[in-house]
Amino acid sequence: MRIPLIAGNWKMNNTEKEAIAFVRVVMQRLDPNSDVEVLICPPFTSLSQLHKLLVSSQLLLGAQNISEKNSGAFTGEISGKMASEFCTHVILGHSERRAYYGETDDLINQKVKAAQKSGLIPMLCIGETLEEKDTGLATSVLTRQLKMGLKDVVCDDPSEMVIAYEPVWAIGTGRTAAAQDISELIARVIRPILAGIWGDKIADQIRVLYGGSVKPENAASFLNQSEIDGALVGGASLSTSDFIGIIEKAS
Ligand code: PGA
Repeated sequence: MRIPLIAGNWKMNNTEKEAIAFVRVVMQRLDPNSDVEVLICPPFTSLSQLHKLLVSSQLLLGAQNISEKNSGAFTGEISGKMASEFCTHVILGHSERRAYYGETDDLINQKVKAAQKSGLIPMLCIGETLEEKDTGLATSVLTRQLKMGLKDVVCDDPSEMVIAYEPVWAIGTGRTAAAQDISELIARVIRPILAGIWGDKIADQIRVLYGGSVKPENAASFLNQSEIDGALVGGASLSTSDFIGIIEKAS
């Protein structure tokens, strides 16, 4: 049994004040008996206050990135240890980090290890670009991103690793992949690679999320697929009603 996970990636949106107001609404409207795990990944600047607010709530907090380094003279960076004071999870390898900040598979691999070292659950994002998809390279890109991103990474507990499949062409574009095709791709490509690294039992239990233009209107089509264990939501996680609408579809 894989527990559904709905994660909101706020990216560079919401001040601390806006973040607090948002989370208050979500807390009020969340079903306390829900079997869905809900994670919010705000900018670093809101983490401390949200952590205080969420202390006895079912809502989880994640970071959007961490440094691959542990500490030291790395101006502007935040370590896993710092993030772990407030967070349970960290998004790593997001396509925007890969595209705009030059993050390579090797760097992402170091970040996955840094996250684990500080007790954070890595949410490793993978996904092909439109060009890679159109030239038939999707499978080889996903294979490389998984194998290199997870090189020498240990995973004894499947609840402590999350994979997010986010086709780059579906992020923020309103275009989505067909739910059945994603499910088939997870079964054919992603889980077998995870099984090759950690064995069938662990691979069967690791949650694989879908991300890319998920909205309340299309969430059920993804979440009803047996291989899709939740969603990584960008744009729609910035509206309380849209985010709650998606969580309700996962219940
Ligand atoms: P989107 O973003 O939902 O706005 O497409 C998803 C993501 O970047 O994680």
